[in-house]
Amino acid sequence: MKTGAFAVRYLTANGYYNELYPSFLFVVPEKFQLTLEDSFMLAPTVRHMAFARADGAPFAFVPGQFIQIHFNYDDGKPTKRSYSVGTVGDQSGEVRRLEIAVSYVEGGAATKLLGGLERGGQVEASGPYGRFCLDDKDINERYLLIATGTGVTPYRAMLPRLEKVIAERGCKVKLLYGARNEQELLYGEEFEAFARAHPGFEFHPCFSRGARATPREHDRLGYVQNVLPEFEPDPHRDIAYLCGNPNMVDAVFTTLKEAGLPVQHIRREKYVSSR
Ligand SMILES: Cc1cc2nc3c(=O)[nH]c(=O)nc-3n(C[C@H](O)[C@H](O)[C@H](O)COP(=O)(O)OP(=O)(O)OC[C@H]3O[C@@H](n4cnc5c(N)ncnc54)[C@H](O)[C@@H]3O)c2cc1C
Ligand SMILES: NC(=O)c1ccc[n+]([C@@H]2O[C@H](COP(=O)([O-])OP(=O)(O)OC[C@H]3O[C@@H](n4cnc5c(N)ncnc54)[C@H](OP(=O)(O)O)[C@@H]3O)[C@@H](O)[C@H]2O)c1
Repeated sequence: MKTGAFAVRYLTANGYYNELYPSFLFVVPEKFQLTLEDSFMLAPTVRHMAFARADGAPFAFVPGQFIQIHFNYDDGKPTKRSYSVGTVGDQSGEVRRLEIAVSYVEGGAATKLLGGLERGGQVEASGPYGRFCLDDKDINERYLLIATGTGVTPYRAMLPRLEKVIAERGCKVKLLYGARNEQELLYGEEFEAFARAHPGFEFHPCFSRGARATPREHDRLGYVQNVLPEFEPDPHRDIAYLCGNPNMVDAVFTTLKEAGLPVQHIRREKYVSSR
């Protein structure tokens, strides 16, 4: 595995530069071919896709990171799209299966490519990228994990690390997950099962278009930003992660800033098309 540490340089109050190193190493991104091994529809317009590297090598990443799929538009112009890695691995930092959840967008170029890819089909990819990751140096009492749609996939990949922080330092975790309805709740049963096995973890589906046929205790109705105040965000206790719909990310960011959370404790990943 190729790794590279990065440092954040900042100016201190007395005019000196200091360097801040995160407590884990990021993997240097590389390009590779992926072969589709398995897929199924998670929701009417969301496809779970499990790939393996065509060269047989394991895929190294830090949970929370994403890959890019490279392809050409119909006119031959090259482009790319990003997808969060959702694989639930162990603590080794390497996985054999690279799993993503692709939400179909009307008229979307990557939607056409990935929606039509058959088992055995190949795509060009690169990665891993991004720093939307848990930081081992965090000493917060509670994580607020907030997502809409496929924005929940990085939290699926983070489950083993969340298990560790819950066990090792008694950290609490609240996952607020916005979906239109029960059919569009991605990996809902997996998160419910994790919550049952880990009392420090609570899973709150937030339905924007109506309750389930049989509502559950932790279900909520409405957008995540409207449910959030019930959990009393607190700058002395919380670090928040926001992922998915860019309008949701902006709205939740505003709510958390108003609650007093410092910007470095509000970590964001907006799902926008990268062309
Ligand atoms: C860091 C990062 C991680 C991401 N992870 C994921 C992921 O795990 N799963 C996933 O499904 N997507 C993810 N995305 C979004 C993804 O990269 C694509 O933008 C998305 O799949 C649409 O691509 P497309 O080529 O099908 O549509 P495009 O050809 O890019 O868009 C077609 C049309 O739809 C509009 N559009 C694009 N996206 C949306 C949307 N979400 N809602 C409404 N209109 C839209 C465009 O403006 C355009 O008019 C991520 C984006 C980023 C930046
Ligand atoms: N039934 C549908 O209309 C439908 C189903 C699947 C996909 N799509 C289309 O597919 C694309 C991607 O859909 P997606 O489901 O992956 O992601 P999405 O459109 O971001 O929706 C995911 C969830 O986020 C909610 N949401 C939307 N705007 C929000 C905001 N400003 N603040 C907080 N929550 C917000 C949605 O509620 P609301 O939608 O209720 O506002 C939904 O519950 C979009 O183009 C979408 O329109 C539409």
